[in-house]
Amino acid sequence: MAGGRALIAASILDADLSNLANAVRRLHVAGADRIHLDVMDAHFVPNLTFGAKTIRHLRKRTDLPLDAHLMISEPGRYLDEYLEAGCDSITFHVEVEEEIAPTLERIRAAGRAAGLSMRPATPLTALEPYHELLDIVMVMTVEPGFGGQTFMRDVAAEKLLAARDLLHHKAYGGEVHVDGGVNRETAELVGGLGVDVLVVGSALFTKGRDMAREIRLIRALADEGYQYERNDGVPPIPRDRMVTFTSLPKHLAHRFMDEIEAGGIPVVMLRGDGVINPDGVRDYDLLVPATVETLVVERHAAARARYLGEAEAWRAAFIAARGVIAPPGYP
Ligand code: DX5
Ligand code: ZN
Repeated sequence: MAGGRALIAASILDADLSNLANAVRRLHVAGADRIHLDVMDAHFVPNLTFGAKTIRHLRKRTDLPLDAHLMISEPGRYLDEYLEAGCDSITFHVEVEEEIAPTLERIRAAGRAAGLSMRPATPLTALEPYHELLDIVMVMTVEPGFGGQTFMRDVAAEKLLAARDLLHHKAYGGEVHVDGGVNRETAELVGGLGVDVLVVGSALFTKGRDMAREIRLIRALADEGYQYERNDGVPPIPRDRMVTFTSLPKHLAHRFMDEIEAGGIPVVMLRGDGVINPDGVRDYDLLVPATVETLVVERHAAARARYLGEAEAWRAAFIAARGVIAPPGYP
């Protein structure tokens, strides 16, 4: 997992398509956060790459998340194949003729992240009717179909920051992806426009460049762009940093965890080193992602106070009724 905020999804479009297993292995070793799979049907775009069967084989070669980018005319018709192949996210294009919402719903029903992408000429507003069904907005900054094209700065400026507005329904985990022409020259710009995932293809397969170093450089530049453009010079909070929100007896911790998670924020419940309760069981800590700590406090500080009060009352009642049970292993 990356230390900072920006994630690198490595596109294998410019890899040696006769040896994709090796490309995926190299990218995994080089520290890519995701593998970005460009599926093209030579109809929606004037190029043909690989399909679900190839992805099913690649699934066995890495445990990195697989982000499928379907540049195909009938994503709904073939969706089940990509779900069965083990894609962690599936993003298709808003320009397709078939219905959009049912396909997004089916992706989510399968427990995967659902995304929509758009050609450079397609306005972001085309995604608005579906935005509540989205986990990913993927902004193309090249014409879909080929790697190694030139980054479209005007499209990035017009869409990347605005794309975040389509994900407000997701308290946590919504992702803006930028795809096309992303490299060491453009990483700082897109980081400054708040993107979460940088899709990088040809820049990682450039002869004479070290793949791992390129990934670290592009990620660092994106985080730097974010720090100075969006975060008042403060480095971004590492994406995987968790902070303790409260500590409670086990039964109350479970209840509160469910309450917080119902609002779309993941919670980690760990047996803490805090209070040993009268039932002999230590308190449990509830940890939340540091990136949404403020939101969790805004939403749940009052409930936290209530739960802490309930814990006090429960402890007193327990002792009055049953005395104190020594924790296991204590003399
Ligand atoms: C283009 C694909 C992109 C492309 C990115 O249609 O969707 O993912 O592979 O490659 P680069 O980084 O070379 O533009
Ligand atoms: Zn792509």
